[in-house]
Amino acid sequence: MVQSGLDLLLAIPPGRGRSSRLQAALRDAIRRGRLTPGTRLPSTRALAFDLGLSRGTIVDAYAQLAAEGWITTIAASGTFVNDVTAVQDVAISDGTARLGDEIRTPGEIRHDLRPGRPAQGSFPRGPWLAAVRKVLARAPDVSWNYGHPFGEAELRYELAIYLRRVRGVHADPAHVVVTAGFADGLGRVSSLLPSGRIAVEATGMPTLRSILQRGGRRLAPVPVDHDGAVTDAVTDMEPAPVAMMLTPAHQYPLGASLGAERRHQLLAWARQTDGLIIEDDYDGEFRYDRQPIGALQALDPDRVIYGGTTSKTMAPALRLGWLAAPAAFAERIATTYPSPQAPAVSVIEQLALAELLRSGSYDRHVRRMRLEYRRRRDHLVERVHADAPRSTVHGIAAGLQLVLELPADVTEDDVLAATRSRGIAISALQSGGHHLESRQPPPRGIVVGYANPPAHAFHASIDILIEALRDAGLGPSR
Ligand SMILES: Cc1ncc(COP(=O)(O)O)c(C=O)c1O
Repeated sequence: MVQSGLDLLLAIPPGRGRSSRLQAALRDAIRRGRLTPGTRLPSTRALAFDLGLSRGTIVDAYAQLAAEGWITTIAASGTFVNDVTAVQDVAISDGTARLGDEIRTPGEIRHDLRPGRPAQGSFPRGPWLAAVRKVLARAPDVSWNYGHPFGEAELRYELAIYLRRVRGVHADPAHVVVTAGFADGLGRVSSLLPSGRIAVEATGMPTLRSILQRGGRRLAPVPVDHDGAVTDAVTDMEPAPVAMMLTPAHQYPLGASLGAERRHQLLAWARQTDGLIIEDDYDGEFRYDRQPIGALQALDPDRVIYGGTTSKTMAPALRLGWLAAPAAFAERIATTYPSPQAPAVSVIEQLALAELLRSGSYDRHVRRMRLEYRRRRDHLVERVHADAPRSTVHGIAAGLQLVLELPADVTEDDVLAATRSRGIAISALQSGGHHLESRQPPPRGIVVGYANPPAHAFHASIDILIEALRDAGLGPSR
């Protein structure tokens, strides 16, 4: 694989004028001293690969910067950053300053350790391209029509097989609904539930809670402990909520999996009260040390609406997910689309995902990523144990993030100040808005996503993180 080996940490938003944005980003990096005189820039090929731009775009950008005096290309040797103290900032005056400002904020994130993001450099570009190419070559003309509001039959069929095999889900293709990601599916499900409160894990993902709240739902917080959601609290609620949304395989973000007894207790509650369970299986494929934990839905498909996504296995940018719902409920989901003819996701992308699943490429990609993420997790845990032992690591059995619990004398703000000053983007339990007001005292800690940095930058990012943790007082001694 071509990679630059040098993490330039440039963010080039999609859209027109990417060459001039790249130029502005490079000028900015040189001006601010992030690229020091003499630094050898990546080859045009490697940088094109890293940034997902065409090689021509990089060649143009390098040529322009060379003409302006920022860099010099030496034949058979490479392209190097000049000493720019004498260089006039011509680009700022020609109207690109505004573009420069736009990219400045993402540019300030030098190490993106925010939770929940999969490896940015590992999207299966080749297999996806092959799948799209195959779809374009072979799909019948009728595929260019609006599509089925449940999703394309081919994809629902492949998903049903995949979910049965990998997650033990009882999935009938007739009751699988394709969504634009879990969040989209959740909004639709919420709009169909009878009026009443929805129980949610008291510590969870803020954006999912706000989807429910924006839909006019009142939320009932359920405490979370080392065994997942405390289901006693659900059965005790008066009046009973109409549904509970939770993350049984890998509690987000604290990391526990829902204990067997609690699974049964929750299902019994749902049967007794005619309640529904919304299972957010956002990263069920990534479990590292033990057997994968099957979906809750497998225990009672009539009570559980199961939701999954490609946001962790592939990329959030795809906006592709699915629901496997009880029969009567599945049919109603289609009524939530603005037009009965309009599915939420492009038919072509649905067919491409079906092809990826059918060919085994999806499985191969997930297996490869599981191995990669496990290595990253092991490295991070090892480093924290050795160099920041005053924090306690939780939630490492699965997923793309872990939680560092803090000792009493170190605050989240101490850690955030130390990480922020080093350009590390990270999340904290309290200040990150993960808690819903509840009687449970909110845990304090830092949520570290270890999947996102490109492979070649990962170790450097962890080195800087460890430096920040030590600086915040989590080292072996204060
Ligand atoms: C807990 C949790 N659920 C679900 C999702 C996936 O949402 P979507 O498929 O809409 O990207 C995420 C992604 O960040 C998540 O962290």
